[in-house]
Amino acid sequence: MNPESVLWPAGPAAAAGADTGWVMIAGAVAVLVLVASLLGWALWRRPGAAPLDERRLMHRWVLGGGFVFPALTMLALFAYASAREDFWAPRRTAGEPVITVTAHAWWWQVQVSDPARGLHATLANELHVPAGRPVTIGLASADVIHALWFPALAGKLDAIPGRVQQLRLQADRPGRYAGRCAEFCGEQHARMGLVLVAHAPEDYARWLAAQAAPALLPQDPLAQRGWRLFTQQRCSACHAVRGLTAPAAITAPDLTHVGSRPAIGAGARPLNRAALAAWIADPQAWKPGVRMPSYQDRLTRDELDALAAFLEQLR
Ligand code: CUA
Repeated sequence: MNPESVLWPAGPAAAAGADTGWVMIAGAVAVLVLVASLLGWALWRRPGAAPLDERRLMHRWVLGGGFVFPALTMLALFAYASAREDFWAPRRTAGEPVITVTAHAWWWQVQVSDPARGLHATLANELHVPAGRPVTIGLASADVIHALWFPALAGKLDAIPGRVQQLRLQADRPGRYAGRCAEFCGEQHARMGLVLVAHAPEDYARWLAAQAAPALLPQDPLAQRGWRLFTQQRCSACHAVRGLTAPAAITAPDLTHVGSRPAIGAGARPLNRAALAAWIADPQAWKPGVRMPSYQDRLTRDELDALAAFLEQLR
C-alpha cells in the first residue's frame, strides 16, 4: 500500500495540490519573515531617530503594505493555481472505463463499465483503474453528504445526494492506494474506507472481464450448504450475486466477487473465512449502527462457517 499522504503524491491531480500547498507555505513564510523584520525594525529603531512623517507612513505602509502588496500576492497565487488546474477539468478520453462511485452510510458502491466491449461490474469498497491514464469518476450519494478522498491521488470531493460530481484522477504507477470518507456522515464515518488498485493497462481489461462474469454454483459441499443458507436466510433481499440471485435493490454491497476483496465492512477487517463468519454473526460488534443485522441467534457456528465458505469462493 502506498503512503496515504498528501505529501507523497502519486498522480498529477495530487501533485498539483501538493505543489500549490508548498508554494503557499513558502509564500506565507516569506510574508511572515518580512512582517516580523519590519516589526523588529520598528521596535528597535535607534532612539533619537527622526520621527516618521505620518503622511508618508500612511501611503507607504497602509496603502502599500495593507492593499497593494496583498493584492499582488493574491493575484500571483491565483495565476499560479489557475495555470495548474487544467488537469482537474472533467472530461472523458476515448476508451476510458466509465466509473461511478455511490456513497452509502457506510460503504462505497462502485460500478465500472467498458461500453465498447459490453462489460459491466458492480463492486464495493474497491476502485480499479488503469495506471498512467486519467479517469473521470462520477460521484453520487444514496443518503447523506459524504466525501471521497484518496490523499495520494486527488483532492477531496463531496458526494451530494441528487447530484453527480466529477472527480478526475490518475495513478502514475500500478499499486494500491488507500482512500476514505472525508465528510462526517454519522456513527461509522471513521470506518468508511476503500482501496484504489491501479493495474498495468494490459491487465485492466482482463481484470474487468473477470469481475463482469457472473458467479457460478459452488462445487464444494460446504460452499453448497452455504449457498442454500444464503437463499433460506434471504440474504439476496439486500445483496446481489449476479448469475445466482434475482437483481436486488441496491441497499447492500454486491457479493458476486466478494471473495476477491481485500477487506470486509469497508475496511473494518481483512477478508478471510473466519472474518466473514464473524461479520455475519455480529456486524454490530464491529460497526455499531450498520444496517446489516446480526445472525448469531439464527445460525449455528457450522452454518456461519458454511455461509462464509460460500462467500469466500466467490472470487
Ligand atoms: Cu461517509 Cu463520512
